[in-house]
Amino acid sequence: MASTADQNRTLFLGIDLGTSRTTVMSSRGAKEVVRSVVGYPKDIIGVKLLDRTSIVGDEALDKRSYVNLHFPLEDGVLKESSEKDTQAARELIQHVISLAHPQPGERVCGIVGVPARASISNKNQLLRITDDLMNFSMVVSEPFMVAYGLNKLTNAIIIDIGAGTIDICAMKGTIPGADEQVTLMKAGNHIDSFLANAVTESYPDVQITPLLAQKIKDQYGFVGHPHQDVIVNLRSGGKPQPHEITKEVKAACETIISDIIENVEQLITSFDPEDQEEAVSNIILAGGGSRLTGLDEIITSSLKDYGPVNVVRVSDPIFSGCAGALKMATELPEDYWNQVGDVIGS
Ligand SMILES: Nc1ncnc2c1ncn2[C@@H]1O[C@H](COP(=O)(O)OP(=O)(O)OP(=O)(O)O)[C@@H](O)[C@H]1O
Ligand SMILES: [Mg+2]
Repeated sequence: MASTADQNRTLFLGIDLGTSRTTVMSSRGAKEVVRSVVGYPKDIIGVKLLDRTSIVGDEALDKRSYVNLHFPLEDGVLKESSEKDTQAARELIQHVISLAHPQPGERVCGIVGVPARASISNKNQLLRITDDLMNFSMVVSEPFMVAYGLNKLTNAIIIDIGAGTIDICAMKGTIPGADEQVTLMKAGNHIDSFLANAVTESYPDVQITPLLAQKIKDQYGFVGHPHQDVIVNLRSGGKPQPHEITKEVKAACETIISDIIENVEQLITSFDPEDQEEAVSNIILAGGGSRLTGLDEIITSSLKDYGPVNVVRVSDPIFSGCAGALKMATELPEDYWNQVGDVIGS
């Protein structure tokens, strides 16, 4: 039985549930990242090899030959197509909570950031999961968490470029509603597939998968003017050979630009006219895709007609949403949580 002192102790968590990665930070200093994937053994041999009935994260990917992989998030929402998908989401969240090492008897209170579309469309399902795993929890949209973490709560525009979605959010000093957030479905994963197809078109003998294309993009991805030629070793007929793929990389990475610009332009006009100048000087790029070389320049030049534009990247794209969630969890008295997002528990 936990002592009264234990019961009074609370562990606060910030969790960013992403399509490709899930991150957790705790009020005791834990800071962890895992791939958002859960593997279940295909058959009894797999169960024997694993000695477990499921594995979470990179290990699941490594053992893909004998586990079935489940990615709980797709297209910015929690997959609800099968019981296994829901179970995978639960196991993923349970796993990251365990990485924060809650002590017996401790109250666990967490804020979970999810793509804006999930926070609008299947938050009740998420809350049912978090309710089972934490004493008190709240689900909020990722770009809002980034804004909170950076103290950019008013006259700012957050562009969070993830794997599954790009979430854009206009911050106007209140909790962003559905009208102030957009979720675009063409994000990092889309770039990867496009790049794999473009390379196959240019070099039909080359073997390339979206996963390999992602690695190339993460290393060489750029938009705008190339600063150097992209030459990578690719296998054709099993043999590695250097291939020049500068124009393919550029074309793939630039597929996300016009949608971003169009939606940012719309959000700019949704601010009061006297606030628009400040909003365009406060554009923040977050998420893994914010690392694309040249992205800040292309956004700046595309929006130049709107006045002085300033685009900055967050310093830590992997943890910025999660850090914002933890900051809110520790700063905001629990009585106020239900004014910010959807809460469950006590
Ligand atoms: N250096 C880089 N250049 C370009 N893209 C990158 C780089 N590093 C990571 N990425 C891309 O960022 C994406 C992952 O970003 P992030 O972890 O923010 O996504 P997520 O939060 O899991 O997804 P979502 O927000 O859509 O649910 C992947 O598409 C990855 O390829
Ligand atoms: Mg994300």
